[in-house]
Amino acid sequence: MALANHFRGTQVLSRPEPSIRANAAILPDLAEIKGQESAKRALEVAAAGGHNLLMVGPPGSGKSMLAARLPSILLPLSAAELLEVSMVHSIAGQLTGGKLSDRRPFRTPHHSATMAALVGGGLRARPGEASLAHHGVLFLDEFPEFTPQALDALRQPLEDGECVIARANHRVSYPAKFQLIAAMNPAAAAWRASRATPAPAARAA
Ligand SMILES: Nc1ncnc2c1ncn2[C@@H]1O[C@H](COP(=O)(O)OP(=O)(O)OP(=O)(O)O)[C@@H](O)[C@H]1O
Ligand SMILES: [Mg+2]
Repeated sequence: MALANHFRGTQVLSRPEPSIRANAAILPDLAEIKGQESAKRALEVAAAGGHNLLMVGPPGSGKSMLAARLPSILLPLSAAELLEVSMVHSIAGQLTGGKLSDRRPFRTPHHSATMAALVGGGLRARPGEASLAHHGVLFLDEFPEFTPQALDALRQPLEDGECVIARANHRVSYPAKFQLIAAMNPAAAAWRASRATPAPAARAA
């Protein structure tokens, strides 16, 4: 009825207003990091150019702390990017209150994340973390702790900028142009490598 009135011109509907989520929350600030000038510089260069970055350092050297401060120096999303990001988040059911935000996504999946959680899949071929990080950052802390299958599955989105989920009779593709930031501990990596190759004695047996 309201629609009929609108077209008859008797009661014109008001234009819909886009609801933008207020970016009121204060993000952790890069200025809180003492020293670490080269690490901060690398983070700034990565943020400016959208480059991927791997941070390697001993426990407590501030890798997680640095990564958490990256969102504070990222550029806001452009209008076209905002629409793309909102579409993916809407499909995933992650658009809080239907409101849009011009803040770049910053996704931090835990290292126990499955392949489907990272690149999408599951019952209704939902977008994964890589697609939820579209036009933003995918941060993988404790990088070597992720399963080789999960890390391998990220190759295709990194190369093509999209995640393709193949099903028996159809395929779904979600955009996934993200900046990959990873952090690892050199000791953990060495320990993993030593476990992966059997010791000479074991091989001879
Ligand atoms: N340069 C720094 N300036 C200020 N605080 C720092 C700095 N480096 C480390 N810290 C402090 O040390 C804590 C531990 O750092 P963080 O958890 O980021 O280390 P990490 O490199 O991620 O370690 P892990 O390998 O164990 O995950 C931080 O929460 C912070 O309080
Ligand atoms: Mg850490």
